[in-house]
Amino acid sequence: MAVALIVAAGRGERLGTGRPKALVPLCGRPMLEWSVASLRAVPDVGQIIVALPADELDAAPAGTIGVSGGADRSRSVRNALAACADGDPVIVHDAARPLATPALFRQALLELARHQDAAAVIAAAPVVDTIKEVGPDGASVSRTLDRTRLWAVQTPQVFRRAALERALAQASDDELARATDDAWLVERSGGVVRILGSDPGNMKITTPEDLRVAELLLSERLR
Ligand code: CTP
Ligand code: MG
Repeated sequence: MAVALIVAAGRGERLGTGRPKALVPLCGRPMLEWSVASLRAVPDVGQIIVALPADELDAAPAGTIGVSGGADRSRSVRNALAACADGDPVIVHDAARPLATPALFRQALLELARHQDAAAVIAAAPVVDTIKEVGPDGASVSRTLDRTRLWAVQTPQVFRRAALERALAQASDDELARATDDAWLVERSGGVVRILGSDPGNMKITTPEDLRVAELLLSERLR
């Protein structure tokens, strides 16, 4: 059976509501609960662990196991993984992506099962903007990247348990602090990471504008 880790221990500073982002209401429920509801609809998921701020452990939804998150996202993943003795593969998902559908979780699990050589499968959307890199002055363009090969990475990210455990154990404190996703840690240790084409609708909520857009998309879906 798979285990799902939801990281929800961030402070939500850019959203600026003065409370942890995962607990901010979205269409009448704490944001976190939408991801939990989607994961509950996936038959392969046997257990859901939620990393929360240490003073908000009561906010773990019914039927999930709440654990204290860490100083950064990767350490929250590590704490959640340590809280479940079994469960393979491991689904890692950000509470900040409440619109992830049960179908997306299912597809990611299927894709990993289909590709025995892969250590991980990660949801990602094709990049629609042209991306340029700037030089050390922070303003002059040094090059334009080939957009056809660029993907904007999302969660869910699904890992073979041994690969994720190894990657997290090998990373230094500095690398854990810098990692914005767990797949990077697996890539560094030589693991094959596959992209699963996803929808930009699986948006990440960072700012108050994102929250308004998500309210709109979710209320349309609920109608
Ligand atoms: N996260 C976590 N533990 C941390 C930091 C982040 O579990 N120490 C989680 C967040 O709860 C979120 C996901 O990682 O679900 C992505 O992080 P982000 O969007 O940056 O959320 P916040 O850190 O809460 O937001 P901000 O950076 O604006 O404070
Ligand atoms: Mg953050």
